[in-house]
Amino acid sequence: MTATATSTLRVYADTAPERPILETGDGDRIAAELASIGVRFERWPVASTLAPGADQDAVIAAYRPQIDRLVEENGYQTVDVVRLERGAANAAEARAKFLDEHRHSDDEVRFFVEGRGAFYLHLNERVYQVVCVRGDLISVPAGTKHWFDMGPDPEFTAIRLFLTPDGWVGLFTGETIASTFPKLEN
Ligand SMILES: [Fe+2]
Repeated sequence: MTATATSTLRVYADTAPERPILETGDGDRIAAELASIGVRFERWPVASTLAPGADQDAVIAAYRPQIDRLVEENGYQTVDVVRLERGAANAAEARAKFLDEHRHSDDEVRFFVEGRGAFYLHLNERVYQVVCVRGDLISVPAGTKHWFDMGPDPEFTAIRLFLTPDGWVGLFTGETIASTFPKLEN
């Protein structure tokens, strides 16, 4: 397992990546700050019965009540599970894919079953860096400018929910802001 065990929120002015104006690991505070910009963040109880490497059906079954609630509230049509194992041959390529600022026409909904990843949300002249770990749900609304860093040694299993099958295609803004902010490190 990756060492980091706690989710963290850092809020920056979008022109000042040197130092966050807010940093917190408190789950309620993270949820409140993100709710104020329309982003859902929740910590779900970890399904301790789930075996490492469990297949997609088992992962979805383990979190079925929470998934059903999101489907009920937001009308998601598709649920799947994406897994990247440590040492994967395509790790660098996978990391680079969403490392530049982009949007989607669909919500980006991720629940971290294992591992971690960092979302950077760019709105209201702020950048919200949310490091998500096992047990964290984040839902980035459609149209929100953001980027995602899975780190130099990526490892995660995540449940994804979609409104439309191809809504997750990245629409890149062409801005270079992502390269000015701290990357997710080990
Ligand atoms: Fe994205």
